Amino acid sequence: MRLELRGLTKRFGALVANDHIDLVVEPGEIHCLLGENGAGKSTLMNMLYGLLQPDEGEILLNDKPWHCGSPRDSIAAGIGMVHQHFMLVPVFTVAENIMLGREPRTRSGLLDRAAARRRVEDLSRRYGLAVHADALVADLSVGEQQRVEILKALANDVEVLILDEPTAVLTPQEIDELIEVLRAIAAAGTSIIFISHKLKEVTRLADRITVIRRGAVIATVGPGTPEAELAELMVGRSVELVVAKSRARPRGPKLVVDGLSVVDTAGVAVVDDVSFQVEGGEIVGIAGVVGNGQSELINALLGLVVPVRGSVTVGGVELAGRSPRDHLGAGIGYVPEDRSHDGFIGTFSVAENLILDLAGRPEFSRHGVMSPNAVRHNASQRVEEFDIRARSVSDPVGELSGGNQQKVVLARELSRPLEVLIAGQPTRGLDVGSIEFVHNRIVRERDQGTAVLIVSAELDEIYALSDRILVMCGGRIVGVADPSTPRETLGLLMAGGY
Ligand SMILES: Nc1ncnc2c1ncn2[C@@H]1O[C@H](COP(=O)(O)OP(=O)(O)O)[C@@H](O)[C@H]1O
Ligand SMILES: [Mg+2]
Repeated sequence: MRLELRGLTKRFGALVANDHIDLVVEPGEIHCLLGENGAGKSTLMNMLYGLLQPDEGEILLNDKPWHCGSPRDSIAAGIGMVHQHFMLVPVFTVAENIMLGREPRTRSGLLDRAAARRRVEDLSRRYGLAVHADALVADLSVGEQQRVEILKALANDVEVLILDEPTAVLTPQEIDELIEVLRAIAAAGTSIIFISHKLKEVTRLADRITVIRRGAVIATVGPGTPEAELAELMVGRSVELVVAKSRARPRGPKLVVDGLSVVDTAGVAVVDDVSFQVEGGEIVGIAGVVGNGQSELINALLGLVVPVRGSVTVGGVELAGRSPRDHLGAGIGYVPEDRSHDGFIGTFSVAENLILDLAGRPEFSRHGVMSPNAVRHNASQRVEEFDIRARSVSDPVGELSGGNQQKVVLARELSRPLEVLIAGQPTRGLDVGSIEFVHNRIVRERDQGTAVLIVSAELDEIYALSDRILVMCGGRIVGVADPSTPRETLGLLMAGGY
């Protein structure tokens, strides 16, 4: 099916979220929509899927004007959408979710489970998307749930499949798998609209790329377009894709980890006799496939879990076995992996989140009563310094974009004197403009003499930031490398091939 959008416009009050957007998607084409957070990508797709009504413009299917009143109309016309936030029913099985609303019935009107399972297995085989039809959705990993969402859309015989930021929640391996699956779907004749703000995957996948900025189409280009050029189209200014940093000047060990072991509830060592040091003024990156003990290591370094053996010292002070508050008190700053879970309180304001751990300090409260003026003054300084885009410092952090939420966490952690900064996946889900900013701030922290430990599943990020790289696999440090080590060598170590 050929899909054309002409002059599609959507306003939210004074905000023009989509401004006369023109777009053509040819049959079987993989068309990527590239744009920063807030550019208007989801809004555009929601109009195509009948979740929003355009204020102006029209949609043409096979050159005929088409009115889309609701998702039901879109599905009937052969348009399917996999949303940014999955819409599965957790207590249903995979087959039940996929067949929801179109369950095959036996002659007596009962749900024909066997037929439903056959249909799901058939779809799963045709597109190479492995799922267990009888598994409960609640028991699946995020990557598996996404496969169910895709199958659910495919079960409707879609001709245009829309995926809104599908890789934001996936591991590098799952992203590779998804790209293969999408290629197979497109090869079978279905057009794909793939929304992303990540340059690498867009250039890998797309037949064509349309860049959207502030609600308008900036350009449609081919996949051979250099990443730097795409970044500039997307952000509207030239972006430093490589972190500008000088050679590290290490100033002696600040964080010393020795023989550290953590066991899980089953008694299995998830961190197994780990020893390393991070000096002030250097960035050490821990590379590894997700789930090899990195999260548990971080938790032990923060006092969130108690190690069964070993020692963690900051500036010579032993912290193992002490409380998280003692760890923070020793000068450890922390940018968590899952910021929405551990990094801030979404319903609290920007100003409140900026002092979460500091609220008891004399500059913010007296006799246990917070001083609103001091809190607001601190917030406006941080907002300025870290370029946090919020309408006001009293806005709840939950309403900011991902990039701005991360800046709130960074601003809070970096605004007190630190000995050690620990950051887990510091730029996961951020757009290029924000990544550049976060990376530069981390390097600046290093240059002020802080010992920085980065844990990231993105090798690009490990390479971009690290002065020294440790590889973690099966709970152990299996290798030490410098940043000139080839990717294949690191990849092999990460996969346990040492
Ligand atoms: N329902 C809504 N009401 C008001 N503003 C909205 C609504 N949905 C989106 N917006 C605003 O429209 C702009 C584009 O948002 P969106 O389409 O979600 O961007 P993207 O998907 O590219 O990140 C943003 O400024 C966003 O805050
Ligand atoms: Mg979006």
